Amino acid sequence: MTGVAERAVGAPLVRRDGPLKVTGRAAYAYEQPVADPLYLFPIEATVARGRIVSIDAAAAEAADGVVVVLTHRNAARLAPDADPELRILQDDVIRFRNQFVGAVVAETSEAARYAAGLVRVEYEEAPHDVTFRADHPELYAPESVNAGIATDSVFGDVEMALAKAHRTIDHVYSTPLEHHNPMEPHTTVAAWHGEDGSGRLTLHDSNQGASTARSMLAPVLGIAPERVRVISPYVGGGFGSKAMPHAHVVLAVLAARLVGGRPVKFAMSRRQTFTQASHRSPQIQRVRLGADRDGRLTAIAHGSIAQTSRFKEFVEQTTFVTRSMYAAPNRSTTHRAVPSDVSVPGIFRAPGETPGFFALESAMDEMALACGIDPVEFRVRNEPEREPETGLPFSSRDYVACMREGARRFGWEGRDPAPGGTRAGEWLIGTGMAGCAYPAYFLRGGTQAAVEALPDGRYRVDIAAADIGTGAWTALAQVSADALGVPVEDVDMAIGDSALPPAAMAGGSMGMTFWGTAIIEAARVLRERFGERPEPGARVTATAPDNPHVGKVSMHAYGAHFAEVRVNADTGEVRVSRLLGMFDLGRVINPRTTRSQLIGGMIMGLSMALHEEGVRDPRFGHTVNCDLAQYHIAAHADVEDVDAIWLDGDDRYYNPMGAKGVGETGIVGAAAAIANAAHHATGIRVRDLPMTPEKFL
Ligand code: MOS
Repeated sequence: MTGVAERAVGAPLVRRDGPLKVTGRAAYAYEQPVADPLYLFPIEATVARGRIVSIDAAAAEAADGVVVVLTHRNAARLAPDADPELRILQDDVIRFRNQFVGAVVAETSEAARYAAGLVRVEYEEAPHDVTFRADHPELYAPESVNAGIATDSVFGDVEMALAKAHRTIDHVYSTPLEHHNPMEPHTTVAAWHGEDGSGRLTLHDSNQGASTARSMLAPVLGIAPERVRVISPYVGGGFGSKAMPHAHVVLAVLAARLVGGRPVKFAMSRRQTFTQASHRSPQIQRVRLGADRDGRLTAIAHGSIAQTSRFKEFVEQTTFVTRSMYAAPNRSTTHRAVPSDVSVPGIFRAPGETPGFFALESAMDEMALACGIDPVEFRVRNEPEREPETGLPFSSRDYVACMREGARRFGWEGRDPAPGGTRAGEWLIGTGMAGCAYPAYFLRGGTQAAVEALPDGRYRVDIAAADIGTGAWTALAQVSADALGVPVEDVDMAIGDSALPPAAMAGGSMGMTFWGTAIIEAARVLRERFGERPEPGARVTATAPDNPHVGKVSMHAYGAHFAEVRVNADTGEVRVSRLLGMFDLGRVINPRTTRSQLIGGMIMGLSMALHEEGVRDPRFGHTVNCDLAQYHIAAHADVEDVDAIWLDGDDRYYNPMGAKGVGETGIVGAAAAIANAAHHATGIRVRDLPMTPEKFL
């Protein structure tokens, strides 16, 4: 690499898209200018299970400004084998409360909303069940869990090891129904073009991947992917809820089919996003650990139970990373599910690892105490040489260094392990820590990038990558600049459009791995074909080569969270006064955007620890607290002192950049560190999130 190239990756550059965003010039999906738009307001089922008996839309159709009322009676037919979550308005069956049963399309959003209230839908109700408990009679073992991961794993004899162990712990932990709440709600603007209004489809859509949206929607609609274009240059957050299209996109697309080529705009209300954009399933986990006299784990058993929808299965890989985290000869991990009459759960920032590490890292804290060993030392003592269940070597694993260096910076040394030892006025003060790991997923190959030489030594890089607020616009320019050997200012990026070379979505912390690999390959091919100084107009498209190390080495990002918590002895209020994350991320492409990703994840973990809980009413099947007044999320006042730092690193196995995934890493383990600190403060172990005040009284 040249001297110039060395400068881009690793520089804390400000976001390229920042000025556009703060001045309101970055057009989000709903704001994209389209000619002569119509507006959609949905109609949602008011029963949790049953059938539609009748729909009376006459009053709505006669209302001012109404163009059409969409129901299952006039909706276009979708592919019979389509994804059940997306195959809406094809029959009269109600599968969950708030299911879309239709929509009103009108000249203004106000007219659509008003008229939606005039549509009378009568139902024949059937008994429903949305209850979730470990002894539910319909509990079952899925064939596999999210990301195609094996449901169970067994090594050695856990029961025997637990019976013989010097110390054992056996606890049940629960995490509630959680809802993602990106700042920008889910929005779609759908327009059909062509003679009969069904030739080509353009979507301005808020999503985590334009190519993914296109490749998932086209088969549902029964059309070739080339006839669908998804445009999404700016996205106001996703957290997994926009990783894949949900039913709202299909609703807008079906509505647009009925209105002769006019674009139909649909922005979900905050309330609608709670039901229509997936959620994190509530979970019940049991962790059993056995340890010998030296504090070495002899057995690890981790089981999770999640709630899934009855009409489409989705189960988080909650105990997956437990398989690779700590050494122990006897091990078992399981996943079970309870089917319910609810909307389909989905991926939510670090699906699996986030709830899984709340339980595992709480249990590790409990076992450290039971063994009388400092929580950092206890983890260090159980550090594996190789990945325990596969025997694979680690690509790089600086977990111990994260704990040691994090402890040093946090001021962990000299900590009195006895709970309840520090009080300042009415506040009980404690500290806690927890481990963090996030695996490298290599789920969707086929990412391509195009590089084109422009006049004056500039380059343009095209890739259907997504920036959902992460800083991808900027970080990809940095990777491109180094790959092309030019200053970062000389790279024009184009992302967020399915017309660009196809790319993996921004999900599973995989985005940069696929995108960066494709860009570096394209730059290499460009040089190979056109030399070091290509003429303007020289252009190549290249596909990211498959990673040859997948299945041969164990690849994870690691970290350690340290928390200081104050619990009010009179009110039970919990304040997180300090949160420090020390991470092992390989090479960091942009320290500014990386830190922002990490502290965002940590604050989301804080929010999970203290506040977030969706409350379902079993009588009616819906989530009661579908708004930000009642579903609490950490705000600035909840975050007193949070920071994320990392070790120098360069993982030669992940990708050519040497960078591990950061998007989801920050949240994993953060809630456990806070719960462990709250226990240290009070002596009260909260195993059921969120840690609301009454749990400390
Ligand atoms: Mo992330 S939950 O994989 O979008």
